[in-house]
Amino acid sequence: MRRVVFNQKGGVGKSSITCNLAAISAARGKRTLVVDLDPQGNSTHYLMGRPATELDNNAADLLEQTLSFTVFNRRPEESFVHATPFENLWVLPSSPELEFLECKLEAKHKIYKLREALKKLDQHFDDIYIDTAPALTAQE
Ligand SMILES: Nc1ncnc2c1ncn2[C@@H]1O[C@H](COP(=O)(O)OP(=O)(O)OP(=O)(O)O)[C@@H](O)[C@H]1O
Ligand SMILES: [Mg+2]
Repeated sequence: MRRVVFNQKGGVGKSSITCNLAAISAARGKRTLVVDLDPQGNSTHYLMGRPATELDNNAADLLEQTLSFTVFNRRPEESFVHATPFENLWVLPSSPELEFLECKLEAKHKIYKLREALKKLDQHFDDIYIDTAPALTAQE
């Protein structure tokens, strides 16, 4: 099941709630994924113990590849999902680049690519928790 944590206000606990709910799912033995769509990358930082800026193959890279003319796109579950130090818990990391990607995807009529990626990820995880940026826009 997919759950999105969103609220237009900043600093109200979205990332904390996302990570804690995901941790509960993982502790219950469910294969759990956190998708960090906030360019600030706090959930990524909480779960990986280091800043999102230090991680390659993040959510922005996943979406970037849909904008380029590569013949073989790398699969989200294989190339962009990172194992956290916690059992049953994975993260699709954020990147500051996410802030600029929405316009690029919209310009090329590819804003739905995120939904496609999430559908693929649904097949590999029991629970997916999505953390969002404070100013929610039409990200999906
Ligand atoms: N239930 C809580 N009680 C007290 N402090 C909390 C609680 N939940 C979160 N915090 C603290 O509040 C601050 C903001 O939390 P968090 O990063 O989860 O908010 P956010 O809504 O994701 O923020 P942003 O909008 O910037 O992404 C953090 O310092 C966090 O430790
Ligand atoms: Mg947050």
